[in-house]
Amino acid sequence: MDLILIGFGNVGRALAEVLVEREAELKGIGANFNVTGIFRSKGGFISPDGLNLKDVLERGERHPSWVPEASALEGISELPCDVVVEMTVTNIETGEPGLSFIKKALEEGKDVVTSNKGPLVVSMRELLNMAEKKGCFLLYEATVGAAIPVFAVAREALKHNEVECIEGILNGTTNYILSRMSEDKVSFDDALREAQEMGYAEADPTYDVEGIDAACKLVILANGIMGMNKRISDVEREGVRGVTPEMIELAEEEGYLVKHISYLDRERMEVGPRLVPKNSPLSIGGTFNVITIKADLAGPITLIGKGAGPRETASAVLSDLLTIVKERSGR
Ligand code: HSE
Repeated sequence: MDLILIGFGNVGRALAEVLVEREAELKGIGANFNVTGIFRSKGGFISPDGLNLKDVLERGERHPSWVPEASALEGISELPCDVVVEMTVTNIETGEPGLSFIKKALEEGKDVVTSNKGPLVVSMRELLNMAEKKGCFLLYEATVGAAIPVFAVAREALKHNEVECIEGILNGTTNYILSRMSEDKVSFDDALREAQEMGYAEADPTYDVEGIDAACKLVILANGIMGMNKRISDVEREGVRGVTPEMIELAEEEGYLVKHISYLDRERMEVGPRLVPKNSPLSIGGTFNVITIKADLAGPITLIGKGAGPRETASAVLSDLLTIVKERSGR
């Protein structure tokens, strides 16, 4: 299966590393991935016969396949390619540059896997309709809860269920801030700084702190699992800036934790600080994400996991690629 990777930052590189590390195991399950192009915002590594990923990772732009003027849009139509893996930076205002890459790929009849929330927040329904019309896959497991296989569970294990509501903690940075304030009495600003140092926070941490990142993920869950056509403006949103140490202490005296909860059902979508009983599945601390899907037959199912990190995100991208391998080979 020929792949083009677009975006070679932390996630793109982690995916390439995992493809190298797991090559033998992947081949053993019928997944022969051949990467014909890797594109950065400027330039790319090109080899229509397939790149040696280990060499590319080691040598970077000194690798003979490096073409400084290479363009991803041209690569999509000109290189051998079954799946475009889109991992560029998130822009939730325009969806670009990822949006143009995904549209081009679908127009050309290629399957798409993306780790990028931006294009989905801006145009998810349009992109899903386009994919359906073209008979292509558009998979995006990595966009919500990174390593947590929430879309796979909904699509595969719960396909005979109707999902009634989804609730969870969808942002690791704010979960970390609230946990540190509660457990270690660390100040808001110090805890945010720690989350930034750990590489969890968005480039602009306002997106985390004001609940914008969580709202984006809620939109993707609504459209991807519950078949809705929601936008970020449909989410009632409140951040965590207003949570004080006094509020946290008061809640704890009554047996509660203050958590930044995202909630979605057919009537409402909201993100904001809520009181959660200390023994609730939503009480998970640290940078963890948690997602509870309430389905009509199955009842509530809760998934907890790492909501960020290059290898965790790459794990989700690879899981989507394996879904495509399985579906395309009719197994
Ligand atoms: N800034 C995000 C978080 C990263 O803290 O969860 C994953 O989208």
